Amino acid sequence: MTLDLQEKFDAVIAHHDRIEPRDWMPEGYRKTLVRQIAQHAHSEIIGMQPEGNWIGRAPSLRRKAILLAKVQDEAGHGLYLYAACETLGVSRDELVEMLLTGRQKYSSIFNYPTLSYADVGTIGWLVDGAAICNQVPLCRTSYGPYGRAMIRICKEESFHQRQGYELLRTMMGGTDAQRQMVQESVDRFWWPSLMMFGPPDEESPNSARSIAWGIKRNGNDELRQRFVDMTVPQAEALGVTLPDPELRWNDERGHYDFGAPDWAELAAVIRGDGPCNAQRLAHRRAAHDDGAWVREAATAFAERSAR
Ligand code: ACO
Repeated sequence: MTLDLQEKFDAVIAHHDRIEPRDWMPEGYRKTLVRQIAQHAHSEIIGMQPEGNWIGRAPSLRRKAILLAKVQDEAGHGLYLYAACETLGVSRDELVEMLLTGRQKYSSIFNYPTLSYADVGTIGWLVDGAAICNQVPLCRTSYGPYGRAMIRICKEESFHQRQGYELLRTMMGGTDAQRQMVQESVDRFWWPSLMMFGPPDEESPNSARSIAWGIKRNGNDELRQRFVDMTVPQAEALGVTLPDPELRWNDERGHYDFGAPDWAELAAVIRGDGPCNAQRLAHRRAAHDDGAWVREAATAFAERSAR
């Protein structure tokens, strides 16, 4: 019986079709999906903080409206992803608990501070740009609810990336001080953006298995290279310098060569020792506690309506 089920599962994966919630799946596949989707959802939710920091200080009403909409989109992404994860038999409460107790991770990038308004543009351009590179292939992931959530998320992320680039372009056409703000911001965010793709393939314990299951469609290094190749011409058009002396076009490979990020720094940030880890989690826990009355009221209302 199990053999038939396993064969059916393997055939779906081999044909690049979708596994759906009611289908049989190996326990390792389910666990890997819960880990990755939950981590992704938590990243969207924690990712609201660095930019949310600037909503009250946006330089114009137009910029405030754009930023508000963007941060709100991130909340929506978190919710689609939690919903996709719940189809794997884990509850929203359990997932939130695992974030708040540090048992599940979220992306390293959101543990860096946002020090100027240029960071709003740089996050849109580089961080959302890296997210798109990493997430477009996930639209073809083998688990149906995750892939469908990713299609909508990627459309919105591509708007986020453009708004970031547009903000930076406006600043680059402004004063010398504004141009310096952009360069300083890009200098801080370049290497952490490359780290978003995860450790090098040979140090990535999950990649081979996840690729065999069709959860991930590419290795970490391939997507990191794709991001560098896409971003260098954009930096040139913008007039900023990417802070990597080893960055140069390699005719033979048909790709840009680039230096190695500081992998010890990535490991430290993932461990919880990044510049803002403690602050991000403390803020999320406080928001969760502040929202307790809303959850209680919603539950009471649902119970009364059911009666
Ligand atoms: N930040 C935090 N943790 C990371 C990061 C990172 N940048 N990169 C890798 N890790 C963790 C992995 O989750 C894994 O942890 P675990 O096995 O203890 O749970 C460990 O480091 C080893 O890494 P990998 O074996 O390479 O892990 P994986 O195969 O899951 O690949 C990746 C990591 C590429 C991030 C993958 O999970 C993925 O594509 N996730 C979906 C996209 C996503 O979550 N993006 C983050 C949000 S971006 C945004 O919201 C704008």
